[in-house]
Amino acid sequence: MKIIVALVCVVSVTLVDAGQKCTGSPRRYNGKNCASTTNYADYHKGACGCGPDNNDNQFGWNHDHFVAAANQATFDRGGAGWCGQNCGKCVRLTTTGGFVDGQGGYVPEGQTHTFMITNLCPDEWPNLSWCSQNRNNGYRNSYGYEWHFDLEDGAGQVASIGWKGKNPEVTWEYVNCDGHEHLTPTNGLYHQCFCGRNGK
Ligand SMILES: *[C@@H]1O[C@H](CO)[C@@H](O)[C@H](O)[C@H]1NC(C)=O
Repeated sequence: MKIIVALVCVVSVTLVDAGQKCTGSPRRYNGKNCASTTNYADYHKGACGCGPDNNDNQFGWNHDHFVAAANQATFDRGGAGWCGQNCGKCVRLTTTGGFVDGQGGYVPEGQTHTFMITNLCPDEWPNLSWCSQNRNNGYRNSYGYEWHFDLEDGAGQVASIGWKGKNPEVTWEYVNCDGHEHLTPTNGLYHQCFCGRNGK
């Protein structure tokens, strides 16, 4: 009986301490670049201008679809804070089964969802721990990642896939926005944005 109890303990400790799976520089897993993720919710149109021109509101889809704020280095290499060169690009995120100890929780490996970049997570307070990747810190945030995606959960869409508050470590790659799950904004939706209409 004691042996069985001890085994159960070892198994559960292993699951809880999954830790980070990505290794190397840049951090990679399964041959792909890794990123950290978090989630947020707001009502602003964001740094790609995905809302009406005459106010700071969001288009509905920029609140309830799979959209993300990318760290500054990913949003725009040159440091632009508006209409970054990667506005409207889509990133396919796949969970590794890892997370940062003390900053999230376990999500099983292999869950894939595609998010459109519609906002910037700036390299400034209060975003420094996740979104600061620059020359002074070796282009890595406080947890070692070169890339970060802060996922909009305005309508509970991140909660609905079980990622809310878990901040799963993911691998990521750029993909075409069209042809994914219905919560991924299409290229057509991006062309409603100020930056999309202005060729950025
Ligand atoms: C960035 O800061 C905003 C507040 O300005 C906050 O809502 C958001 O959660 C932060 N995201 C990260 C990844 O630090």
